Amino acid sequence: MPGRLPAETVIGVIGAGAMGSGIAQVAAQAGHRVRLTDAHAGAVERAQAGIVKDLGHMVAKGRMPVAQAEAVAARIEASPLANFGDCGLVIEAIVEDLDTKRHLFRTLEEIVARDAIIASNTSSLSITAMAAGLQRPERVIGMHFFNPATRMKLVEVISGLETDAAVAETVFATAEAWGKKPAYAKSTPGFIVNRIARPFYGEAWRSYIEGAADPATIDAIVRDCGGFPMGPFELMDLIGHDVNLAVSTAVFEATFGERRYAPSLAQQELVRAGRLGRKSGRGIYDYRDGASRPHPRVEAGAEPVRRVVAVGSLGIATPIITRLEAAGVDVVRVQGPRSAQDVSSGWLEIGPARLMMTDGRPATRRAMEEKHEHLVLFDLALDYATTPRLGLARADQCGMAAFRTVCGTLGQAGFACSPLDDVAGLVVMRLIAMLVNESAEAVAHGTCSVDAIDVAMRYGVNYPRGPMEWSAQVGLRVFARALANLREHYGEERYRTSALITRKGYTGASFHD
Ligand code: NAI
Repeated sequence: MPGRLPAETVIGVIGAGAMGSGIAQVAAQAGHRVRLTDAHAGAVERAQAGIVKDLGHMVAKGRMPVAQAEAVAARIEASPLANFGDCGLVIEAIVEDLDTKRHLFRTLEEIVARDAIIASNTSSLSITAMAAGLQRPERVIGMHFFNPATRMKLVEVISGLETDAAVAETVFATAEAWGKKPAYAKSTPGFIVNRIARPFYGEAWRSYIEGAADPATIDAIVRDCGGFPMGPFELMDLIGHDVNLAVSTAVFEATFGERRYAPSLAQQELVRAGRLGRKSGRGIYDYRDGASRPHPRVEAGAEPVRRVVAVGSLGIATPIITRLEAAGVDVVRVQGPRSAQDVSSGWLEIGPARLMMTDGRPATRRAMEEKHEHLVLFDLALDYATTPRLGLARADQCGMAAFRTVCGTLGQAGFACSPLDDVAGLVVMRLIAMLVNESAEAVAHGTCSVDAIDVAMRYGVNYPRGPMEWSAQVGLRVFARALANLREHYGEERYRTSALITRKGYTGASFHD
């Protein structure tokens, strides 16, 4: 198995913008001499000044001795492309345009040695297309860093159709030696992160458009119950709606219109209005001086009940019972009918209401099927023992008084109850089920491994857990059921269950089995 490129290997970086300068710094910090070039006069000097400043911050924080910082900076040399002949690995981070990159690679082939590796930091273009027509397409690979390259750990190592496996292994080992978390992927639209993350935005838009709740409430539920560092709307405001919409559109078009990636018309309207997010002062939220941030909705609730009956098993939501008991509520446990012994399909009788976990069906339909009109559904939370919030939807048949009793009783146990309109799958269940589904499709189609998905989502976009870890924790059956119910409810291709999930479902196995 090929090892890393030795520290003596000279690294070439083309494009000294945001990404190129970060990549040059990473390579120099790992001990390599780096040649840096840019088409625009002054760009390399600006990058070098930025690197010196960043190294200075590290010295100030005691993370690097002065002498080392100076040595790192000295290893980065402004060089014309013609002098890249001694580079063993060249990484381009120029403008995101296929023809420009192909032209650059043709020029580069004439300069570098036969065995030099040619890598692209592209976030969206096909590595296969970039390599096509070159004399040695087998040494072309994607080395996709995340912004800022000095801080973000993930590097997607992307093989095109012709990429030599040994080249991919060398780049993987080299990225690891540079302190990064590499993940192998095949050249497919969005690679890993930009593809798997699509439902995080897409399902949030759908929930909002279908009237589940306002963006502030959806963001709070995704943060507090889903454990994500940011909610989807605040994150899109930060990324910029123009950028986010462009990525969604690119992945949608590159997959010949796969419905799971269909961009949101509501987001397109924001872009058309110039409401691009933080950078333009307004996106979903208003960032202008004096503007206040809307609060998530919380249902105050009525007088709590003193006694709750727990029927069957709440599965992963069992800590709700523990929290109610800790808050002084008397919980009487009884055996349920056969179906309620199944994981997560038990319920709580709270006053006149029945409280159950969502399984992807809307509460109104489930109330009819359960023959219980005061039905309230709660959303998925990744840790019911600690979540400060719960999303709740009541069936149309359920009276407001019964709903308020549920909220008041859960409120006593420390759950802020955020009301949702009765949309299928509520917010978190739907979002994570679709992330898991997307991950399963990527694995089923050979784009990447199960472990690569979790590495990519944890280190590329700071998810607290990877989708595969979630599916192991919550149980693949829970998501399989939610997906099947979403598919039935909407009748849309978008919600079809990945064949890999269906197959695992026969035996109850997890992705890791
Ligand atoms: P940037 O605009 O900050 O920098 C690009 C640099 O390349 C500029 O300094 C420009 O003068 C130079 N350049 C353009 N054409 C050139 C050519 N033909 N030869 C030499 N230099 C040339 O762009 P950024 O953000 O650094 O992106 C660069 C690449 O990295 C793109 O492919 C982008 O898709 C990818 N990328 C960007 C990320 C981001 O968050 N900004 C994240 C991951 C990948």
